[in-house]
Amino acid sequence: MVFSKRKMKQFLVFGVTIFLVVCFYKSWGNPMNGLGPAQYGEEVFTDDEPDNSVLHQDRTVDTKRQAGPQERSVLATADRTINLRGVFESREEQREPPVSKHLRSNDVGLADDFDGEHESRLNELHEAKRQILELERKIQELEGRIPRKYPDVTFLNYKNRKRILITGGAGFVGSHLVDYLMMQGHEVIVADNFFTGRKRNVEHWLGHENFELIHHDIVNPLFIEVDEIYHLASPASPPHYMYNPVKTIKTNTLGTINVLGLAKRVGAKVLIASTSEVYGDPDVHPQPETYWGHVNPIGPRACYDEGKRVSETLSYAYAKQEKVNVRVARIFNTYGPRMHMNDGRVVSNFIIQALQNQSITIYGSGKQTRSFQYVSDLVDGLVALMASNYTQPVNLGNPVERTIQDFAEIIRDLVGCKSQIIELPAVEDDPQRRKPDISRAKKEIHWEPRVPLQEGLMKTIDYFRKELARSNHSQRNIFVPETTEYRNLV
Ligand SMILES: NC(=O)c1ccc[n+]([C@@H]2O[C@H](COP(=O)([O-])OP(=O)(O)OC[C@H]3O[C@@H](n4cnc5c(N)ncnc54)[C@H](O)[C@@H]3O)[C@@H](O)[C@H]2O)c1
Repeated sequence: MVFSKRKMKQFLVFGVTIFLVVCFYKSWGNPMNGLGPAQYGEEVFTDDEPDNSVLHQDRTVDTKRQAGPQERSVLATADRTINLRGVFESREEQREPPVSKHLRSNDVGLADDFDGEHESRLNELHEAKRQILELERKIQELEGRIPRKYPDVTFLNYKNRKRILITGGAGFVGSHLVDYLMMQGHEVIVADNFFTGRKRNVEHWLGHENFELIHHDIVNPLFIEVDEIYHLASPASPPHYMYNPVKTIKTNTLGTINVLGLAKRVGAKVLIASTSEVYGDPDVHPQPETYWGHVNPIGPRACYDEGKRVSETLSYAYAKQEKVNVRVARIFNTYGPRMHMNDGRVVSNFIIQALQNQSITIYGSGKQTRSFQYVSDLVDGLVALMASNYTQPVNLGNPVERTIQDFAEIIRDLVGCKSQIIELPAVEDDPQRRKPDISRAKKEIHWEPRVPLQEGLMKTIDYFRKELARSNHSQRNIFVPETTEYRNLV
């Protein structure tokens, strides 16, 4: 039989095709057995195979030899899935008798059910794993908020340790006083209604065995056992005390009566935080404690100025009539970290404006003078006054006097910005000169301020810079005692 050239060619092509199909079949196995899908990362299972994971590994290794980089990554994913599934299957095997497995291999419907059930179990497993990871993350976050270590406070034995109440202890000055007294090893109780104070200011002590924070409004009586009371509860900056003038008067009158009543009941020593505002817009300069003041009793500042004057009057009435052991501190302008961002006072206003490169605003001509003390100096003075036997009012302030214009320029230079300094109309009843005469403090309690203005301002600028950059609640307030080297805080 003679074949045409064309027929010969067709025959050859057919033969080679058959040969290739046979070779392919032998080296790769039956495609119906599930090899095909494995190349695309799908799962491969046959019920009569003893160990799916091992079998699958062999095959994927084989397949990988011929796969490109993209396919290899798909196959790696398939490997992981199959391994997980292997774990799952071995658990299933422990629960079901082998016969049921055998039966399934002969029953396509049952095998489909089995695959579907496994699929949903696998999904459940993944979901459970995801939820566990999420819970672990939350626990870590919560742990981060609780200080694992506190600053090393001095240990005082029962005889020397005092129980000290600080009203308004979550505020600016109060929180620094808390730090000082805690470091000394005393038991400190803060009572605050959080009108202008913040838990954040004392959060580094929460949970410490010597510390307690009570949410309490001091216009209501407080019944606790204490040895000393620092009565600081009162809004202190003009926008805050003018916000609710009646409440400001109540806090400084009813609140002070409650504090003095408590001191009388338990025999505690009490220090009242008064203010240089009792001198009003003074016509004596600098102001000694013997000066009676120049206050407008019906002006916008009267709720605070007169409130504090009554507070002093009440203190000496309780001292005379009820023999309460009182101290009165007339505090002058104070600045430092933890001041309110929006308290409208010169230092915080100027720093925030400078840090944001905004114009620095001066109310009036800028020639009015102020003297500012750094908060740690004030705390030293309050503690020294409480410890002394001196019962008359004592000025606590820094006598270095500067014009408001000077302050604006100093702050602008320290921040290193190019803010303009602009003048706005003067504020009603704004005192023109303020400077303490501190000769009484020097003589009676051996106190005078020590922190230079530039040093205090740099610490305050640093604080405000961090506050402005703060973007979430878990950025915690970290207290590092200044007098000791850095401690191991969280
Ligand atoms: N910071 C100063 O420059 C300055 C100057 C003179 C006098 N003072 C006096 O020092 C004390 C502390 O001032 P500060 O600058 O820390 O002010 P601040 O506003 O930061 O702190 C006052 C604290 O008292 C709390 N408080 C207010 N009313 C209360 C009430 N009815 N019951 C309970 N708590 C209440 C506030 O929530 C806040 O925590 C005040 O009495 C203030 O008059 C401060």
